[in-house]
Amino acid sequence: PYRSVITVEVNGTARTLTVDHRRMLVDLLREDLALTGTKKGCDQGQCGACTVIVDGRRLNSCLLPAVTVDGSAVTTVEGLGDADGLHPLQRAFLDRDAFQCGYCTPGQLCSAVGAIAEAAVGQPSRVTGADVPAGRPVPLTRDEIRERLSGNLCRCGAYPRIVDAVQDVLS
Ligand code: FES
Repeated sequence: PYRSVITVEVNGTARTLTVDHRRMLVDLLREDLALTGTKKGCDQGQCGACTVIVDGRRLNSCLLPAVTVDGSAVTTVEGLGDADGLHPLQRAFLDRDAFQCGYCTPGQLCSAVGAIAEAAVGQPSRVTGADVPAGRPVPLTRDEIRERLSGNLCRCGAYPRIVDAVQDVLS
């Protein structure tokens, strides 16, 4: 009684899965689909390591019951690049050494992709409420980037280089 069959597109591939209603998306991705790029840090919505993109929005997959993504499209770090290789943000992270241990990097990348998309459509900052005009061809300022990635913690403290990498993509 606590299971449902869901259909979800994961990194462009349709999957039909039977999921326990108590199962979180992060566990479905990592354990059932072997997409271990998505990391679990705090498991309570504090660190952002588990960030994935669901229907264009960045979300903490540790807080999201897998059953709720029925009919949605989920993108994980494994799905960011295209057939030609890495996503521009992944390339920029490499060029800028925007990590040390790398554990937070998949979440940082997915969050940055989401943040850039949010800025492009003028979605207000979730932290300050400040609006960014629609269609504004970013660059976001360094402070705006930091604020918009503030849900993603990096215990190595690579924040300045993460901002550098995001700015590279936006400039
Ligand atoms: Fe989901 Fe930390 S593991 S926010």
